[in-house]
This record gives sequence, structure tokens and C-alpha cells, in this order.
Amino acid sequence: MTPLRNWLLINTFLVYIVFCSDTQNSVCSKTCSSSMNGSYVYDFCHEQDLQLQGRCCVNVTGSQQILGLDLQGCGLSQLTGLFTHGASLQVLLLQDNPLMNTSTTDFKGLLELKYLALPMDSDCPGGMGAWEMTNTTANETLCLQELDFCLVHNVSCPSNSYCANTGPGITECLCLPGYHGYKCLRKGTFPTTVFTAGMVGSTLFVAGLLWFTQRQSVKKQV
Ligand SMILES: *[C@@H]1O[C@H](CO)[C@@H](O)[C@H](O)[C@H]1NC(C)=O
Repeated sequence: MTPLRNWLLINTFLVYIVFCSDTQNSVCSKTCSSSMNGSYVYDFCHEQDLQLQGRCCVNVTGSQQILGLDLQGCGLSQLTGLFTHGASLQVLLLQDNPLMNTSTTDFKGLLELKYLALPMDSDCPGGMGAWEMTNTTANETLCLQELDFCLVHNVSCPSNSYCANTGPGITECLCLPGYHGYKCLRKGTFPTTVFTAGMVGSTLFVAGLLWFTQRQSVKKQV
């Protein structure tokens, strides 16, 4: 029983590491048919004094944010989960991919987009109202300059809350400071310290319990 438990713990840890560290690099090292030379991302990167890393344009002086990403001709059929490390993306090229059923939520978290190019016959995520300008040509759809949807469309939120952009054409109502809970109806801040103390306490308890039972079985084996 003990080796199995150890094995499970180690594996959970490894899976965690792989998931948390690999996503950013894997999107930059995709194999695609288009060349980076002459790509708009290439020009953008040189203009801004940033560094090309595979398909990505990265701000190496900052915290390695990806500002540009060229995924033209990468054989992508879906986008789910691709942009989890892309909150700072400004230029994103997705032409020449057999994309199926992309949805606005695929672009959730992207708030800085200035230049998004999609395969022809695609719609701009969030609709035309989420962009300053959209343009459809024979081989691509361009979505230019993402708008502050809350502001431009004067999105209203229930009392005690305010509108926050979470992606192109996606908004959420968040509680104002001093309110929390369902429909922001509870007054006072969320009891963070109590909550954190509870979480840490119960984690330590479980860890201690595991340690104790492990020791017991080690003793028995000796
Ligand atoms: C790169 O990151 C640095 C540090 O965060 C920041 O000052 C700079 O403006 C960034 N460059 C661009 C082009 O965003």
C-alpha cells in the first residue's frame, strides 16, 4: 500500500509541474507550415525591440510575457486552452488553420489585442461591437483594436457591483470593495484571513496525518 501511495503522490506532483510549466513553451514551439520571416509578428517584434522565440514574440526584459504569436498554418482545429499564458497578447495570427467551432470563450483573458487575424469565414470573437474595426478579405478576417466593452457599450451591473472586461466582448459584474457573496448582497469584505487560515490548517492536518500513517507502516516493516 505504501509504495502505491508514494507513487500516486509523486505522480500528482509531476503532472502539476508539467501542466504549470509547459503550456507557454509548447505554444511557441508549434510546428507550422508558414515561415516567421516576413510574418507580421516578426515585424512587430523588431519594431518593439522584443525577442522572437519560435512562433512567439516575447518581452524578455519583463516577466517573459508573450506579446505576439504567429500560428498560421499550424493545422489547428481548435483553440481551447491555447492562450492561458497570453493575457498580454497584442498580435495574434491564426490564418490557414482548419478551425472548427471556435467560440468567444477561447479568447477569454485576452484584453490587449490590437491585431487578430483569423481564417476567412470566421467571425471576430465577441462580434463586431467588440472591435474598433473589423475587415474581411478573400483570405482572412481581421479584428483590429479590442474595445473596452464595458465602457463603449455602457454595460450596466446590479447595485454594489461594477462591470469588468474579461475578453473580447466578454464582461463580468464584480463586487465593489466592501461587498461580497451572492449578487454582492453581503456587506463587509470576504473573510480572507479566516478562509486562508482554515485552508492552511486543514492542509497541514492532512499532511500530518499522512506523515503519521506513513511512519507507522515504516515501523511495522522494520
Ligand atoms: C517589457 O517589460 C518591461 C518591464 O515590465 C516594460 O517596462 C516594457 O514596457 C515592456 N515592453 C513592451 C514593449 O511592452
